[in-house]
Amino acid sequence: MKILVTGGAGYIGVHTILALVNEGYIPIVVDNLSNSSIEGIRRIEKLKNTTIKTYICDIRDAEYLSQIFSENDIQGVIHLAGLKAVGESCSDPISYYDNNVSGTLVLLKTMEKLGVANLIFSSSATVYGNPKTLPIKEDAKLFPTNPYGQSKLMIEKICQDLANKTKLASKNAWKIALLRYFNPIGADKSGVVGEDPKGTPNNVMPYIAQVASGKLERLSIFGNDYPTKDGTGIRDYIHVMDLAEGHVAALRWVLSIKPLISECRAINLGTGSGTSVLELLSIFEKETGVKVPYVYSLRRSGDIASCFADPSLAHSLLGWKASRNMAQMVSDTWRWQEQNPSGYGE
Ligand code: NAD
Ligand code: WQD
Repeated sequence: MKILVTGGAGYIGVHTILALVNEGYIPIVVDNLSNSSIEGIRRIEKLKNTTIKTYICDIRDAEYLSQIFSENDIQGVIHLAGLKAVGESCSDPISYYDNNVSGTLVLLKTMEKLGVANLIFSSSATVYGNPKTLPIKEDAKLFPTNPYGQSKLMIEKICQDLANKTKLASKNAWKIALLRYFNPIGADKSGVVGEDPKGTPNNVMPYIAQVASGKLERLSIFGNDYPTKDGTGIRDYIHVMDLAEGHVAALRWVLSIKPLISECRAINLGTGSGTSVLELLSIFEKETGVKVPYVYSLRRSGDIASCFADPSLAHSLLGWKASRNMAQMVSDTWRWQEQNPSGYGE
């Protein structure tokens, strides 16, 4: 079964492709390579001894996208393509709404035109903003605090409207899973693919890995005065391969829904437990034996104290549960970093 993966060359994309191949699906990649390189896909081809059809295409290019759908018998779409840097979304909101919202509209129009109604969408825990209660359930208030998060929420609403439109019997009733990821980290255990941020990393795990490898001098911990157990921010880190397998579980669920029934469900993908920055550092040092120098600095604007999921819906609806622990997350990150000090290289 052929599954189109937009953004398939990116960090979550390559791991999702690996999970799809592992489960016997045929992924077809669409990516404009604005934040990735083709090397990740090439490495999966080598690892799995297979070929992955890849189109260098911007999802806003309606004509090319239609052609890709027409050339391939696509049964479903995993839509990961988009811009994801929170800070950049505040300084350049138009690019974020254009890429994420307009790009998704082009994709949805193309799917509707060609009768493909099975969709898995990368949403984010960022749609919850600063949660009132923890752990966060899917019915919590949605209050994104930056244009990136707003763009994710807008797409969720568009998807919900599409599914509502076809609530009555229709030949191509939409079936949509809106996956709200918490904090994906780690890499496949092979060490051949991983996170390869351009420039200085924004996120804590790749930052720690680059400090440990000597590329960066020290970690700045953004705030040690939060109302948490040690004063540093708490997040729900999830192994990227667990996340990738969550996509396959969501795909199976979507494909199992009767043709005339429409569905659109938001589903958290997290582990359900929170880890502070200091705890993350200490697990990293224990697992790798490498010391990571750090300093405390001011809180990062827009950060929240704590955020972790109630992942029970994913378990009951999709039969999926994260299975890899923090030790695996950091040791897999480190294997990738050590084997690929310059990421995928130039
Ligand atoms: P990434 O930047 O590594 O991957 C995104 C991919 O989309 C890149 O390969 C990029 O080249 C491609 N892309 C961007 N705009 C495109 C366009 N207009 N047309 C075609 N391709 C385009 O990011 P990622 O971490 O793999 O994230 C994947 C998705 O998951 C994103 O939508 C992101 O918002 C979402 N997400 C990520 C995280 C995270 O922490 N990594 C958390 C929650 C949600
Ligand atoms: C984690 C913790 C920081 C860097 C972001 C996006 C979110 C989602 C995932 C896409 C926090 C602290 C960080 C550093 C630090 N992406 N930190 N020093 O902010 O939870 O989520 O990525 O959807 O939308 O906002 O992740 O890894 O940046 O931060 O102390 O150099 O590490 O303050 O407590 P975050 P993160």
